[in-house]
Amino acid sequence: MESVIVAIDGPSGTGKSSTSRAVAAELGLSYLDTGAQYRAITWWMLTNGIDVDDPGAVAAVCGKPAIESGTDPLAPAISVDGADAAGPIRTREVTSKVSAVSAVPEVRARITGLQRAIAAAAEKGIVVEGRDIGTTVLPAADVKIFLTASPEARAARRSGELKGREAADLASTREALIRRDAADSGRKTSPLAKADDAVEVDTTELTLQQVIECVVALVEEKRAGR
Ligand code: DC
Repeated sequence: MESVIVAIDGPSGTGKSSTSRAVAAELGLSYLDTGAQYRAITWWMLTNGIDVDDPGAVAAVCGKPAIESGTDPLAPAISVDGADAAGPIRTREVTSKVSAVSAVPEVRARITGLQRAIAAAAEKGIVVEGRDIGTTVLPAADVKIFLTASPEARAARRSGELKGREAADLASTREALIRRDAADSGRKTSPLAKADDAVEVDTTELTLQQVIECVVALVEEKRAGR
């Protein structure tokens, strides 16, 4: 079977990661979480004392960390300079700084290069999730999906994920999420955006299983038609 590239973009809390992993697993494709790469470079900046609010300082060192992403949808992995970064990249500190770091054009150029190389090496194809995959990273992707959901549904899902780890109340989760989306959508270089040829799926009233089925059907339809 020919290789297929699936781009899944959208803001956080829309079910993007769960959907992308499940679709990749079901179709036997590789999987790449591009948000994890931006989180990893942000974590490296923070642990190395770089002032992440200074774009010049971030740009000057962004080529230094070695960022390796695993592409198995059943065991997503990420390391920085050989150290497992899967846990540390999910802290509230990284989450609050990742938009500033990922807005720096030099950071985006570096990470975009990594993403394209990983996609090109995926023999059977890959599901790549992010914010700018369909518009900028892989504009020739075979299938482009843009997931949305109401702010209420997204905040509820995000708070559910954080439960136990960094329990946050719904209102502050909703606020932080809206702030991060505004920063991600408003930045100059490859902002969060729907590609003109992407299929928009509003997940507010759908179960995860329904979203997965919908995306799998779109990929199969595309494969059948070519
Ligand atoms: O998907 P996530 O919440 O883990 O992403 C973390 C941040 O990374 C997000 O706030 C913006 C940035 N990001 C990006 O700029 N471009 C991408 N393709 C993916 C994520």
